[in-house]
Amino acid sequence: MSQSAHPIGTATAWAGINIALVKYWGKRDTARNLPAVSSLSLTLAEMGTRTTVTFDPELTTDVFELDGEPREDPRVIAMLDGIRGLRRVERHARVVSRNHVPTASGLASSASGAAALAAAAWAATGGDLAAARADRAFIELVRRGSGSAPRSLYGGLVELDRDSGGVRPVLSASAWDLRMVVARLAHAPKKISSRQGMARTAATSPFYGAWVDAHPADMVAARAAIEARDLPALGAVMERSTYRMHAAMLGADPPLRYWNGRTLDALDRVEALRAAGVGAWATMDAGPHVKVLCLAADAEAVAGALAEVADPADVTVARPGPGATLEP
Ligand code: DP6
Repeated sequence: MSQSAHPIGTATAWAGINIALVKYWGKRDTARNLPAVSSLSLTLAEMGTRTTVTFDPELTTDVFELDGEPREDPRVIAMLDGIRGLRRVERHARVVSRNHVPTASGLASSASGAAALAAAAWAATGGDLAAARADRAFIELVRRGSGSAPRSLYGGLVELDRDSGGVRPVLSASAWDLRMVVARLAHAPKKISSRQGMARTAATSPFYGAWVDAHPADMVAARAAIEARDLPALGAVMERSTYRMHAAMLGADPPLRYWNGRTLDALDRVEALRAAGVGAWATMDAGPHVKVLCLAADAEAVAGALAEVADPADVTVARPGPGATLEP
C-alpha cells in the first residue's frame, strides 16, 4: 500500500438518532440517494451510535463489528471507500460500532450509524469534522449511506433540502425545551427496509404522487411553527406528515403496514392526553414504534401514558441532542 497524504489514526464518534417531524419517503434519484421531498428532524441525545474507526496498515481487508458481533455490510464498505477516496487514504479499516437503539427496528439506527461511521472515518484520517459538515462531497457520501443520516450530523432541529440534497441546522438543541418520548412496541427487526418500502411505494401506490405534491406546504408550516415556538402547530404538522406518509405506504401493492395493534393503542393514549390538556403529538416511521413530541414539563405524563401500552422499560424520554461529535 502506498503512503497516504494524511496522518492516519483512529477516531471515535457519537451520532444521535434523529426523528423526522416532516417525513422523508421516496427518492428522486436512487443512484445519488436524493430524496423526493425535503425533511425536518429532531436529533436526540439519549439514543444513537458510537463508532470507532482505525485505519490499520496491518489489515488486508476492512473489518466491521456491530454490538460485539462481526458483520458484513456493503454500506459500511461503501462508506469507507468513499472516505478513502475523499481523503486519499488507501489503508483498510477496523470499524467497531455500538448501537444504543435496536438495530433495524424502525428506530432510525441506520441514520446514526452512517453519521457516526462517516464522522469517525473522516476524523481518523486527520480530517476536521466542522470542515466535513461544510463539504458537499462528504454530505453526499453520508446521504448515500442513508437518506436521513446527514440530519444526524447536526443537533436540534435540522432540515434536509430536496433540491440540493444538503442539510442545515434550523434550531439548536438547547433553544427549545422539547422532548421526544419513544415507545418501543416490538423487538423483532422490521420486515421491509425503508429503501425497499420507498421503492415499492413509488412504483405501486396511487397515493405517492399526492404525498410528494402535498409535502412542500408541510415544510413551510413546520418552519413557521418553529420560528414562533408554536408546539401545537408543529405537532399538528408532524402528525399530518406522518399520516400522509403512511397513507402512501398503505396504498402500495402489496400494502406496506408497519404498525401493529399496540401502535394504535399508543395513538389512542396520545389522543386522550391531548383531550386532557397535555400537549402531545405522535409520529411513526418504518416500524411500529410511536414517538411523542411534547414539552419537557409534559414528558413524565406522556411517558406514564405510553407505559400503559409498552413495557415501561421500553419507554425512553429523549432530549434534543448535539450533532455528530468526536470523542476522546
Ligand atoms: C420513515 O434514511 O432509512 O424514517 O435513504 O433508503 O437509507 P434510505 O432510507 P432511510 O429512511 C428514513 C425514512 C423514515 C422517515 C424519515 O426519517 O424522514
